[in-house]
Amino acid sequence: MSTSPQTAALTQAVTQEAMQSFAHATDPRLAQVMALLVKHLHAFVAESKLSKEEWLRGLDFLNACAAITTEERNEFSLFSDIMGISSMVDVVSQPEGGTPSSVLGPFHNHDSLLRDNGVDLTNGQPGERVWFHGRVVDTHGQPIANAHIDFWQNADNGLYPAQDPEQDPQNLRCKIVCDAEGGFNLLTIRPHPYTVPTDGPVGALLAASQRNIWRPAHYHLIVSAPGYVGLVTELFPKGSDYIDNDTVFGVRPGLIVPFVPCSNSAVAQRFGLEAPFLEMTYEFQLVKQD
Ligand SMILES: [Fe+2]
Repeated sequence: MSTSPQTAALTQAVTQEAMQSFAHATDPRLAQVMALLVKHLHAFVAESKLSKEEWLRGLDFLNACAAITTEERNEFSLFSDIMGISSMVDVVSQPEGGTPSSVLGPFHNHDSLLRDNGVDLTNGQPGERVWFHGRVVDTHGQPIANAHIDFWQNADNGLYPAQDPEQDPQNLRCKIVCDAEGGFNLLTIRPHPYTVPTDGPVGALLAASQRNIWRPAHYHLIVSAPGYVGLVTELFPKGSDYIDNDTVFGVRPGLIVPFVPCSNSAVAQRFGLEAPFLEMTYEFQLVKQD
């Protein structure tokens, strides 16, 4: 079905008028962003020839997202994730040159305790032991002394503490300060794939679209240091299920890291481990602030 010249002229006029309506916003960035949003949303409506029924269905979907959203659960954030918008924002807002960023996800907790560099986070719980260590450096490979790391992951049952009343709220999460050479290390367990929440309108959309609902296993990290752009990222164990089909599109090639069998006797003795255990090594590169 082609568009007649009259309809094309009308849609262009409506788009121009709606874009112009934001031109006098007190914040110039608001004017720019809203004009572009109008431009692209109008183009979507025109190209898809959206029917009134489809438009109403879209509004119903947004209303359903609002109805299920609480302090602990944000369906709009999940919608952004499964549309790839959260990942797009990560990609376009992160400066080039450092470690790639990835999605923050819904389970970050600002209240993680500051623990010693070299902390054992396992506390006798099930899970394959992983000695995770590395350095934080600048884009020239020079160590960043005393960089901060905020780390969190899910337990052996695939759940985060916020989803599992059996877990201590501080389980498998910590903040640590790197040493003078940017070095860090900790003992943790292998993370596991998990599904995004599927009991809301986003879950219904994923089901109707016959889409995967799983995320590959990952560690979450926020790496920061004064004078450098903060990094929100994830590390994905090489070979994890769903690594080629992350439902929130968070995997980047530079963030896939192998688990290597390790028999370092000093590490085994320090943490009371039986060798071999797993080892993951990573060097985070931070970009200097302008
Ligand atoms: Fe996660």
